[in-house]
Amino acid sequence: MDVHLAPRLRDALQAADFTYDAVADLLGTRAHEALARNETVPGRRRTRGGTPLETLVRLFLLQTAVDLDAAEAALPGLVDRLAVAGLLEMSVGEVVARLDCRPYATDDQHLWVVSDLTPGLDGGPARVGPDHVLGISAASSSLAQLTLREPVGTALDLGTGCGVQALHLARHSGRVVATDVNARALALARFNAALNDVTHRVEVRDGSFFEPVAGERFDLIATNPPFVISPATGERLVYRDSGLPGDRVVEDIVCAAPRHLNPGGWCQILGNWIIERDRPWDERLASWVEPGHDALVVQREVVDPASYVELWLKDAGRHGASDYRERYETWLSWFDEQGIEAIGFGWINLRATGHEQPRVELIEWPYDVEQPIAPAIAAWGEATEAVQAGIDGGAYLHAREDVVQETYGAIGVEDPETVVLRQQRGFRRARTADTVVAALVGACDGDLTVDQILGALAELLDLDGDAVRAEYLPVVRELVADGFLSD
Ligand SMILES: C[S@@+](CC[C@H](N)C(=O)[O-])C[C@H]1O[C@@H](n2cnc3c(N)ncnc32)[C@H](O)[C@@H]1O
Repeated sequence: MDVHLAPRLRDALQAADFTYDAVADLLGTRAHEALARNETVPGRRRTRGGTPLETLVRLFLLQTAVDLDAAEAALPGLVDRLAVAGLLEMSVGEVVARLDCRPYATDDQHLWVVSDLTPGLDGGPARVGPDHVLGISAASSSLAQLTLREPVGTALDLGTGCGVQALHLARHSGRVVATDVNARALALARFNAALNDVTHRVEVRDGSFFEPVAGERFDLIATNPPFVISPATGERLVYRDSGLPGDRVVEDIVCAAPRHLNPGGWCQILGNWIIERDRPWDERLASWVEPGHDALVVQREVVDPASYVELWLKDAGRHGASDYRERYETWLSWFDEQGIEAIGFGWINLRATGHEQPRVELIEWPYDVEQPIAPAIAAWGEATEAVQAGIDGGAYLHAREDVVQETYGAIGVEDPETVVLRQQRGFRRARTADTVVAALVGACDGDLTVDQILGALAELLDLDGDAVRAEYLPVVRELVADGFLSD
């Protein structure tokens, strides 16, 4: 990939208004949704007008041959050169795409990402080569939504692929290092950095995980590593298979990250992990976390081995192949031999705080959360700092604005059986509350100290003030840690 072509390609894409919103408008909801299901016919029907935007959509998104004249009109003076670079292929009077190039929008920017073509459109072959470079996947978006977006000095994207995380990081990091072992990924990541005009910020380095950054530290590490857990069959799709046994790739990153984080720095990992038979998942993952590091591990989904094997055999385009059952059997027996009960999917957030008694919280949280979830992760970090600094009776606290009270009980009775405090935002945590907790949270508006509120409640409820304080101060710390109250 000739990075010198990138600025001219960017100009052409801009001139054609090849942006996420314009493409979504052109396709309309149904064709757009059909394309997300890998079906192109509704999109083809919407793009017959011959405008440059329609040509680019047909060429790259719908993988349709377009007339050479139309391609020239959409990519003036570039078709030959893009063909030499491997992005396009020309035949008599027609042009097809050899790589995918699509617009991508974040809150505040228009980006373009070049990657390998999406396999399996319209039921076509879904098999890809071992060095396939994924475009923007559900996993990429999930990590992008998890990644903290506060400005930082240095950031690291491990396993950059087409470079999508690095493009995000370049918006709020002084310098980004992106690593990969796939030469095609490295070339595409460099091209995408140039296409989006961030080469001055993004440095793409060849090498395995942390090897190319030995001795360097970062404020933020974001990674969507090749985390698929499979027996080593000798075949490796580098975008998803690390070549390491079991879930070692995720464990190794968690264990190595502390040597690459600046004080206060975060490492955020999207991953899969093994849930062993007869061992709680959280005990195993907690054992990976080095002392001096806070950790918030969120298990979003648990998948049984059979569903897992099906998912990834289908992803590799093996469903329906003559050896499908054999592969399925091998993979499943291997899970059995390894004592693997299930596979967890989720997020690992690690922070180098140096706390003597770090907060290591592992939660099973399959519930709907507010996306992007990153602000809730940042709030978790802030709440942890507040609790570590010490919350005592003299604290002036505020109830978080989005916390509401739900009551449950028989209709018409005066006192509800259960009161639940529920956050409307972020993780949307909920907890049951007794009379004191509900009244305390309700009264926390920054005017009175916790001691004053608890004292007044004790009086009101005819309880012993000291006993109420002793019982509820730890609860107040929990309420701060979990984001119901803040200082
Ligand atoms: C799941 S893809 C993630 C791509 C991209 N970061 C994203 O979020 O969409 C994993 C990436 O890790 C790369 N990879 C595989 N083994 C690696 C290794 N040992 N060191 C660094 N990267 C590796 C693959 O080539 C691939 O680009």
